[in-house]
Amino acid sequence: MEGAGLRIRRAFPTHVLPDLDPFLLLDHLGPIQFQPGEAVGFPDHPHRGFETVTYVLEGEMQHRDSFGHSGILGPGSVQWMTAGSGLVHSEMPGESLRKNGGTLHGFQLWVNLPRVDKMTPPRYQEFAGEKIPVAAAEGVSVKVVAGDALGQKGVIETNIPISYLHVTLQAKAAFRQVLPSSANAFVYVISGVGAAGTGLASFEEGSMVIFNKDGDSIEINNPAERPLEFLLIAGEPIGEPVVRAGPFVMNTREEILQAFHDYQNGLMGTI
Ligand code: FE2
Repeated sequence: MEGAGLRIRRAFPTHVLPDLDPFLLLDHLGPIQFQPGEAVGFPDHPHRGFETVTYVLEGEMQHRDSFGHSGILGPGSVQWMTAGSGLVHSEMPGESLRKNGGTLHGFQLWVNLPRVDKMTPPRYQEFAGEKIPVAAAEGVSVKVVAGDALGQKGVIETNIPISYLHVTLQAKAAFRQVLPSSANAFVYVISGVGAAGTGLASFEEGSMVIFNKDGDSIEINNPAERPLEFLLIAGEPIGEPVVRAGPFVMNTREEILQAFHDYQNGLMGTI
């Protein structure tokens, strides 16, 4: 349970996988069916030192922050928020979801920032679903949020090279992505069954699959008769110490204490 009591599936961090440099967390939100008046979210909380990436598949999320930024993320939309030096924000189901009920389904990824960018001013990159480029090949469709796929470039500018792809494979289709061998890469299955690796090991909905680094590409197959949908996320490791405490991710313990101090003294603002 997270926020005000929202059930999520947390792919990581776990005790076996504290992070996957440069990625710090992946939460799969729902799909949840809310009854009227039941929808809850993530009320006011701070962040410093990294980026939160919210990707809505179904329903709406409404956000506000301590610097007056606010908006609605509808189905298919993405918000890449660089928390940088810090802010306080709230992330709640949209008004209609709270009032009338309905389905909420989405993801939140946390991307670390290198030391030189941790105290950068907060920045938002936000795109509605229809603004996210879609690349296609036979039996393959890819929404390119960040990085590139099948010759199509994504919409998000990232501080370090990152790929964020939402891939749909029809029955028996395969998808190959070229990635530098230095990158950390994983797949998270949204629905269907996938297969990868030399033995074509299979994995199902809710599975996270980490790819090893020997080779310059990865391939995912759909061995089943129904579509396979997954996120493919990859990034260049930052290679710096990670010290995290709740909503703050810095390089040293002193910087974490400073973050709590700055938050308590209102330097990240209030909503
Ligand atoms: Fe947040």
